[in-house]
Amino acid sequence: MPITTCVFDAYGTLFDVSAAARLAAAGPEFPALADRWAELAAHWRTKQLQYTWLRAIANAHADFWSVTQDGLDWALQATGLDGDPALRRRLLDLYWELQAYPEVPGMLEALKAAGLKTAILSNGSPDMLDGAVKSAGIGGVLDAVLSVESVGVFKPDARVYALVGQRLGCADDEVLFVSSNGWDAAAAAGFGFVSVWANRAGEPMERLPWKPAHVVADLTGIPALAGIR
Ligand code: LAC
Repeated sequence: MPITTCVFDAYGTLFDVSAAARLAAAGPEFPALADRWAELAAHWRTKQLQYTWLRAIANAHADFWSVTQDGLDWALQATGLDGDPALRRRLLDLYWELQAYPEVPGMLEALKAAGLKTAILSNGSPDMLDGAVKSAGIGGVLDAVLSVESVGVFKPDARVYALVGQRLGCADDEVLFVSSNGWDAAAAAGFGFVSVWANRAGEPMERLPWKPAHVVADLTGIPALAGIR
C-alpha cells in the first residue's frame, strides 16, 4: 500500500528532550548544572520512560506529566542536584516549551504539500503536547495530535497504536510511523505500521521480536521514505 499518513512520536523525535537541561545550564542561575546537565538529562529521560513501562505493566496509569516529574525528582537526587526548588521549577517549565529539531518544520511542510496526513502519537498528555506544538510552531502542519490519555495506558500497548486507524481512518500498512525510540519503532512495526527508527543517538538495534523497516539518522529523509519524489 502507498503511504498516506505519517505519524510521529513526540519527545526525542520531533522535540529535543535534552533541551530543557541544556538551556537551564546555559544561563548563570544554576552553575551546579554546568558540567552535569547531560547526565541529568539522560537520567531524567531513562527514569521517565521506565516509569511509563512499569505503570503500563502494573495497570497503574498516571499521566505523562506526573511521570515526567517523578523521573526528574529521581534524576535530581541521583546527580546531587535536588537541593534547589528553583532549578526543579525551571526544568519543568522548560519542558512545556521544548524546541523542535531543526529539520522538523520543513519536513512536515513537505509532507503536507504532497497531500499526506500528518499526526503526533505520544505518551504526552494533551496539554503538554499542546504547549510543545505551539512553542515549536508546527500546529499548522499537523492534522492530529493523539495522546495516550484517551486510552489510559502508555506505549507500547497496542491500544495506543490502534488510535491512529481509529482517529485517522487509515489502514495500518498505509502508515509511516517514525520514532527516535528504538523500542517504540520496534513495537510499531510489530503492530503493523511501516516503521522508521530515527536513531539520533547512534544506538544499537533493540533486541526485540520486531524490527523497523527503515533506520535513519534524523528526519530529513522522511518525505522520500513516504514516497515523495
Ligand atoms: C512519546 C515518548 C515515548 O512522545 O517519546 O510518546
